[in-house]
Amino acid sequence: MAKRVVLAYSGGLDTSVAVKWISENYGYEVIAMAMDVGQGGDFEVIRHRAIAAGAVAVEVIDARADFAENFVLPTLHANALYEGKYPLVSSLSRPVIVKGLVETAKKYDAEAVAHGCTGKGNDQVRFEVGIRALNPNLEIIAPVRSWGFSRADSIDYAQAHSIPIAASKEKPYSIDQNLWGRAVECGEMEDPWAEPPHDVYEMTIPTRQDRSEITITFNEGKPVALDGIAMPFVEVIDKLNVLFGSYGYGRIDMVENRRVGIKSREVYEAPAALGLILAHSELEDLTLERDLAHEKAKLSHRIAELIYDGLWFSPLREGLSEFMSYSQRYVTGDVRLALEPNRVYVVGRRSSYSLYDYELATYEKEDQFRHSDAEGFVRIWGLGVETWSKRQGRK
Ligand code: ARG
Repeated sequence: MAKRVVLAYSGGLDTSVAVKWISENYGYEVIAMAMDVGQGGDFEVIRHRAIAAGAVAVEVIDARADFAENFVLPTLHANALYEGKYPLVSSLSRPVIVKGLVETAKKYDAEAVAHGCTGKGNDQVRFEVGIRALNPNLEIIAPVRSWGFSRADSIDYAQAHSIPIAASKEKPYSIDQNLWGRAVECGEMEDPWAEPPHDVYEMTIPTRQDRSEITITFNEGKPVALDGIAMPFVEVIDKLNVLFGSYGYGRIDMVENRRVGIKSREVYEAPAALGLILAHSELEDLTLERDLAHEKAKLSHRIAELIYDGLWFSPLREGLSEFMSYSQRYVTGDVRLALEPNRVYVVGRRSSYSLYDYELATYEKEDQFRHSDAEGFVRIWGLGVETWSKRQGRK
């Protein structure tokens, strides 16, 4: 019996060509696994395309809820932004795809899995490190890294083998999209000085000119309602992508450090991700004790790095996520956001677990705060630097 391989199949040019190329070059039977992580597209079309390209079976997995609840939510709890800017859109979908690949391989008794990533990017790292963490016995095939095709070669190969593809030679962008946002690379953007062409944007086209407001309700760090209407987390994300996007909010233009040692210019659209991180951290400002908040902010960078570097399935990432989840016990309440063209900002926050104490904060009236205590506290607080200053011969 022929060996079997499960290929992470997007329906795009490279993975369509990969179906045929793997069967020709390895003699394996190819099972195409297509996963819905909220990228849009018609999965019936994708299914037919995989078969037309030569797949013996197609497995379509709807992972939207799993992705939102088990991958996006822990990342939101951490307010994770790689290099302080990027909400980890692609980095975050790879582990859920990896999980699907490994499960599908088991289901079909396959000995190998395959992905369509190039040798210059982060995604190959995330796939392969993730696969080895979940099942080190699987053989990993990375056709795009070894076949040496240019984009034009791939198009020619597809035509020669009657593989139906939607790609044309004109649009030179590499796009990856899911619930948490959209990443666009290549083309004119490879010059970091050049402004991204307007046609790269899809989620953040400003159509609204008015000012409006929305209230997001969180329960233990999880967004559970919009303007008082309860809904599943996936739906919150979908709705906010549309709403914030219609104000042109959520664009990121950055130069980032890839794991493989290359700096690259990246353009992202992540309206819901940026708006939710903004609102969530605002509620934390109200409800987290100071030391917890400060430590959490430091670990947020670390967890973002681990996720970016393909270490979702690792003991440190899992341990840090446990900490993040613990920190969310009192992150319950509402955040009011104002929306204006190109801008979303916080105008109010409230929580029954708020640590904000009006009696302590106000300057308006006499209270129990003993002002005389402050004097001694400040004197001792400054004692060290005062001694140091005198030793240096200062006044
Ligand atoms: N640079 C981003 C990351 O490493 C985006 C990668 C996007 N992938 C793609 N195939 N266009 O997470």
